[in-house]
Amino acid sequence: MSAIRSVTARRVWDSRGNPTVEVDVQLEDGSFGRAIAPAGASRGRREATDLRDGGFRLRGKDVGRAVRNVVDTIGPVLVGMDAQDQTSVDQAILALDPSPDKSLLGGNATVATSMAVLHAAAAHKEIPLWQHVAQLYGYTPSLPLPEIQIFGGGAHAGRRVDIQDFMIMVPGAASFDEVMEITNEVYFAAGDIMAARGALAGIADEGGWWPNFRSNEEALETLVAAIEKAGEKPGERVVISLDIAASEFGSDGRYRLALEDKEMESGAMIDLLGQWLDAYPIVSIEDPLGEDDPSGMIEFTRRYGERVQIIGDDYLVTNTALVAKGVSDGACNCVLIKVNQIGTVTEAAATYDAARTAGWTAVVSARSGETEDTSISHLSVGLGSQQLKVGSFQRSERMVKWNECLRIQDTLGAHNFAAGAALSKTWWAGKLN
Ligand code: PGA
Ligand code: ZN
Repeated sequence: MSAIRSVTARRVWDSRGNPTVEVDVQLEDGSFGRAIAPAGASRGRREATDLRDGGFRLRGKDVGRAVRNVVDTIGPVLVGMDAQDQTSVDQAILALDPSPDKSLLGGNATVATSMAVLHAAAAHKEIPLWQHVAQLYGYTPSLPLPEIQIFGGGAHAGRRVDIQDFMIMVPGAASFDEVMEITNEVYFAAGDIMAARGALAGIADEGGWWPNFRSNEEALETLVAAIEKAGEKPGERVVISLDIAASEFGSDGRYRLALEDKEMESGAMIDLLGQWLDAYPIVSIEDPLGEDDPSGMIEFTRRYGERVQIIGDDYLVTNTALVAKGVSDGACNCVLIKVNQIGTVTEAAATYDAARTAGWTAVVSARSGETEDTSISHLSVGLGSQQLKVGSFQRSERMVKWNECLRIQDTLGAHNFAAGAALSKTWWAGKLN
């Protein structure tokens, strides 16, 4: 009775006001699943295609073709299939689009469908989605350590600062709930400091403060000051995490920091980041070099991989083959998991598996364009991903994901929290002994 009866799709709107794809899946027993595709702004070049209609209407961003692909092409093939067999469902979707980047169907069409099926199967079993995910993939569920943005930058804040995400983590917290409390204090302390300095320009795409800093380092100094103003000692319970998103300001091994009017080669970029690692309590750094700079990424990992978590986002795009290559090259030691970068739940879970098997950590992540969909909170818990990144401490498309984790905490128990252990690749982990 968990056979799929119908698959329908519609256009809805995301947190940036852009059209996106929502899919509803109904099973023969009446069980129901729904999911919405998110959308990135600083997308990796090798990601699954975010299929848009183009032209002038809705600035070319309409998703009419992707919606029709779900209704006319994917749906008819899935009807009658068992929703509990996620692998076969996703394979059937993949068979419809042999392109390497899902450019025929659109990754936005496939991801919303794949996740809606996942929801429907959980509903059929009358269990929460995180529990279904844990059963499906054989992981022990746990509440993740959040990475929460304090300032936005890069493509999410009009490129006012070059670095995209200035975040904190609270590995010293006793529970997920306590992380939220401490982060709240730091977030508003940062806002107060910026307002007093005339550096507060608004709210960026992911809910962090939109800063008006004179240098990237001023952002780091302000972040440290905010942690202190919140009554914490930087590097103790609270630490810093950065998403450099270097592909946004670098190509072919050359990087241009517009704010400082500085242009440099890969080696100098590595040195600069190394200075920041020495000067600030940074435990995690995402895309420190560009997606087209593997030798830079390998060198950065060689120099700092024992000390900090090095996350590949644009560099790995949730792709199993790219993770396998990163492992054999010695580039990165952590993967960011964004289901829509690859396009189906099955492929994302395989990438997650490959990373964990290699001894890497993994961070389940939202996109900068998000919605009320909370699937990733459940995926993070169900895969036991240990870390979750969904943006800042404001705007409901972000808070809905944090709040969902708080609800899961009530069922799972506050003690099932990854906390400091989530940072096995960093100097902070040494503090646990
Ligand atoms: P995006 O960026 O969702 O805009 O691509 C988020 C990130 O780089 O982590
Ligand atoms: Zn990123």
